[in-house]
Amino acid sequence: MMNDYAAYLTVAQQAARDAGAFLKQRFGCIQQVDESLAHDVKLRLDKEAQMLITRHLLAAFPESSVLGEEGNSGRQDAEFLWIVDPIDGTVNYFYGIPIFCVSIALQHRGRLVMGCVYDPMQQECFSAIAGGAALLNGMPITVSARSRMAEAIVFIGHGTHDGSGEVGIRRFAHISRQVRKIRILGSAALTLCYIAAGRFDAYVEGRICLWDFAAARVILETAGGSLEFEPQEEDAARGAIIAWNGRLPLHEALKLDSNA
Ligand code: IPD
Ligand code: CA
Ligand code: CA
Repeated sequence: MMNDYAAYLTVAQQAARDAGAFLKQRFGCIQQVDESLAHDVKLRLDKEAQMLITRHLLAAFPESSVLGEEGNSGRQDAEFLWIVDPIDGTVNYFYGIPIFCVSIALQHRGRLVMGCVYDPMQQECFSAIAGGAALLNGMPITVSARSRMAEAIVFIGHGTHDGSGEVGIRRFAHISRQVRKIRILGSAALTLCYIAAGRFDAYVEGRICLWDFAAARVILETAGGSLEFEPQEEDAARGAIIAWNGRLPLHEALKLDSNA
């Protein structure tokens, strides 16, 4: 079964590398802002990178469809559905912080089977086919062996939407007392890949979208990690996430006591 998806992975990697080169070339230049929100920006480049990726994917697999942050192509109930985030970490990109990536997942008959996440600044390509090995630039990676919160590095997003901020900030304070370090990278996909590679140990965020984590989920789970996603009632593509190396007592650590 694994080899069936190898051709899809090759094309996803080519698309991610091309989009990554496109973004790297324009990094640090003045960007056209399509939309400026309180806690986010949308760049013209988000759309251009998605178009570039979509062209690649559909040229190689015309029967497949694309679900992307910047728009969809084809039937969303297609047998093969690509899930694309052309820039994960747009705010970083816009501010000249070189931490962002291109994320491409493949869903086959509703199941995530392949993920590719490319960081053009570090030239790091994370990939996995479910049931195979998780790779970084072709070399196997695995989650960390750390099992105590006291030695963990945890990414914790405290959320900016729908009143989730308050709980998030309490949780942030609560967790930060227990761990070695807190880090906030600004890219959900890269964070999950860093857990897959044993660099980080856990990730907690109140609200992210399917395209933020689809590809990295395959990579993380293949590398031995765990991920739980709790979709929102009103929109199943958005929800809360916890992800970890599968060894830390994360559920326990997250429990807020009344004084937290
Ligand atoms: C964002 C990043 C960020 C996460 C946000 C995402 P974008 O994606 O992954 O780390 O905290 O929830 O929306 O907007 O840069 O593609
Ligand atoms: Ca994203
Ligand atoms: Ca994005």
